[in-house]
Amino acid sequence: MKIAVLPGDGIGPEIIDQALRVLDTLKADGLAIECEVGAIGGAGYDEAGDPLPDRTIALAREADAVLLGAVGGPKYDVLPRAMRPEQGLLRIRKELGLFANLRPAVVYPELASASSLKSELVEGLDLMILRELTGDIYFGQPRGRRQTESGEDEGFDTMKYSVSEIERIARVAFDIAEKRSRKLCSVDKANVLDTSILWREVVTKISAEYPSVELSHMYVDNAAMQLVREPKQFDVILTGNIFGDILSDEASMLTGSIGMLPSASMDVNRKGLFEPIHGSAPDISGKNVANPLATILSVSMMLKYTFNEIEASERVESAVKSVLAQGFRTADIFQEGAQRVGTREMGDAVIRAM
Ligand code: IPM
Ligand code: MG
Repeated sequence: MKIAVLPGDGIGPEIIDQALRVLDTLKADGLAIECEVGAIGGAGYDEAGDPLPDRTIALAREADAVLLGAVGGPKYDVLPRAMRPEQGLLRIRKELGLFANLRPAVVYPELASASSLKSELVEGLDLMILRELTGDIYFGQPRGRRQTESGEDEGFDTMKYSVSEIERIARVAFDIAEKRSRKLCSVDKANVLDTSILWREVVTKISAEYPSVELSHMYVDNAAMQLVREPKQFDVILTGNIFGDILSDEASMLTGSIGMLPSASMDVNRKGLFEPIHGSAPDISGKNVANPLATILSVSMMLKYTFNEIEASERVESAVKSVLAQGFRTADIFQEGAQRVGTREMGDAVIRAM
């Protein structure tokens, strides 16, 4: 298993260090894991003047999977858009064809009271957001800056989806729903956007191939509201790139902390990039306070989805559950009575539990 490891910026290197210890533990126990580190984001810019250096993309192409920390930081905010750290992330997703982004939001029993919602609303929540990741207004052309007829500057972007892009992400969603509770909610803005009208038509057409899955549709504004009103009504949510970006951050808070959520971004062959959904958190970087669990859970997803190593994947996930049950908490999930630990100590606890 060749893994390209891209720590990135801010807390990225700290949380990746803990994930690497988990991989080392699995390797010591017999899994054939090989890791090679590359630079991305601001680190890529510092190293090679590019948020996605050629060496890094070559490394990622050669690897079976990519493990990524986070990108971005105030130091790079002044750079032109093409050189910004986020472009490294967007380009690697696009260049590797990682169109299917799985963002599970699971509430661990011990963390139900850490949610900003009442415990009874989130207890037992197990939600999967499937976000399309290589299309939509993130990548649509034309885009840019221009002048209006009256000579005023305007910025513009293009939202678009082709039928084939919608079909392939819809099939992934129905496949996932078939293996879960057979309920799929497709989220769009078909009351306003042409892109969404097509989205809804195509998803409805594909649903005929999956008679056992119950499909519903919801407008994105309503979905944002329903997620905090009654989140347990959802099982699998299918949506486009920008709506999925927003709804997945919202869903993360149901679980108590954005520091708990892993993600998988996969191509047609299940080669994937695995990363926590949170960002580089420059305000806490280098302080040993960041929560490494989302990254460690991303390793668990990698083992499951790319390598089909179900036992190892469950071993990592169980270790995370066990450290939570033992009462270890980083600052973001800390509650009275728990044991507050730093990034590294949380890693220690996971390794021990493994
Ligand atoms: C995410 C992030 C990225 C996105 C940013 C950093 C470009 O918010 O992975 O959700 O918008 O996709
Ligand atoms: Mg986001």
